[in-house]
Amino acid sequence: MESTRSRLAHRLAEAGQSHLVQFWDELTPEQQAEMTSDLEAMDFQEINKFFRSAMEVSHSSKQEKMDARMEPVPREVLGSVTRDRDCLKDWEEKGLRCISQSSVAVLLLAGGQGTRLGVSYPKGMYDVGLPSHKTLFQIQAERILRLQQLAEQRHGAKCCIPWYIMTSGRTMESTKTFFSRHSYFGLCKDNVIFFQQGMLPAMDYNGKIILESKNKLAMAPDGNGGLYRALGTQGIVEDMDRRGVKFIHVYCVDNILVKVADPAFVGFCVQKGGDCGAKVVEKTNPTEAVGVVCKVDGRYQVVEYSEITLATAEKRSADGRLMFNAGNVANHFFTLAFLRDIVQTFEPQLQHHVAQKKILYVDTQGRLIKPDKPNGIKMEKFVFDIFQFAKAFVVYEVLREDEFSALKNADSQDGKDTPTTVKHALMSLHHRWVLNAAGHFIDENGTRVPAIPSLKDGTDLPIKCEISPLVSYGGEGLEELVSGREFRPTLVIDESGAHELVKNGL
Ligand code: UD1
Repeated sequence: MESTRSRLAHRLAEAGQSHLVQFWDELTPEQQAEMTSDLEAMDFQEINKFFRSAMEVSHSSKQEKMDARMEPVPREVLGSVTRDRDCLKDWEEKGLRCISQSSVAVLLLAGGQGTRLGVSYPKGMYDVGLPSHKTLFQIQAERILRLQQLAEQRHGAKCCIPWYIMTSGRTMESTKTFFSRHSYFGLCKDNVIFFQQGMLPAMDYNGKIILESKNKLAMAPDGNGGLYRALGTQGIVEDMDRRGVKFIHVYCVDNILVKVADPAFVGFCVQKGGDCGAKVVEKTNPTEAVGVVCKVDGRYQVVEYSEITLATAEKRSADGRLMFNAGNVANHFFTLAFLRDIVQTFEPQLQHHVAQKKILYVDTQGRLIKPDKPNGIKMEKFVFDIFQFAKAFVVYEVLREDEFSALKNADSQDGKDTPTTVKHALMSLHHRWVLNAAGHFIDENGTRVPAIPSLKDGTDLPIKCEISPLVSYGGEGLEELVSGREFRPTLVIDESGAHELVKNGL
């Protein structure tokens, strides 16, 4: 024990982190043992190196300089669901064929802490208050099930879309328990693969690791770009290879409209020979919190909303649209070959981004302090930082109202990206699906509700309507259930058919 302790003390001293054990003599033997094992597992030299280079980059890359080097995405790498309507069927067909051959996997980034939403459990477990009370995880699982079914029907072969779920130290246990409690929402357990990203300590501006209590370091997940290291250390690339996966759709947990394994997106990327692709929506508001896909010094990247200046965000092209309008919806396409290159060769070249934060800490007297201004940094890699290594980068533009509504914040009046806004986005999409399938809605007096409801009562509440993903992935297959029929909201369409909920508390 003594030698373990002195070895540790030596390592800490060498790394300039001896303050971490300043309360050692006040700890119980259990706390000492736990702290020893936490500290032993850490590579302080590496952490110090990350800190130095992250700080260097954050000081050197002055935003103004970056702005001058940005160029919009060129038209030739861009596909669009509106401008390239004629190709859509082909892309979708191509994607469905790949899915039917079990060569498409989905990978969910679910290691975030949901700080803005303010819940203590993983965001995927959030119930936004739909009539069915389905959580984000359940909605995604059911879309996978339905898509497998569609591909099987089209091509007559049984297929599987493996679902890789990246969690962090903070979300792993609760995520796994949730899935197991819900019997994997009907998916085969073996095809839902959990793995864990790494954590990094928060540091003060002098590179000292912050203690959040006398015996605990302030730790946080290493960003969604922690994916690439985790893919290597957890053997995920090999697992994909073993299963015959060739294409991977990576996405974030918070978008209620996400088209998991979207056949049209996959088909577009494959048809164009892309090794790396990004799905985007048109950014129309300069201050919206989305990154923009663009080129910097001739290489593709996302310039994050926290890293662009307002002057650049507000720049407009001759047609009046924002010049940098390829809004990143955090849906990416990678070939397995590309991911393998990243994991084996390029991952160490990815720089950490620095986020200045207010981090709870204990002072030298052991008192817990809640700072009122940023007192340190968290270091994060970003999932899109590998775009620069792509040999054939492609961008796919979709409609926001069909595909993007993210849950970021707790409900508040006029709040953006809240449980209410995402619930409304989903119901409004499903309302349009019913109308497109020749169904109608009537109000309490039996009068038909116009397709575009009037806003004269000052509210813009959507028609209450929810369609189970088990029935329809993207609006297909609804005619036989709704065509020529009139419904009084709330309308729910699930495996047992279309029914009106008389009482609703929505
Ligand atoms: C992200 C994108 C942003 C995009 C926006 C769209 C990144 C870095 N930024 O921003 O460009 O416009 O979504 O909604 O992708 N996560 C982890 N591990 C972590 C941190 C996060 O898995 O260590 C996961 C989260 O669980 C979530 C996703 O990454 O699924 C996005 O994280 P979040 O921090 O919410 O990203 P945004 O800032 O909203």
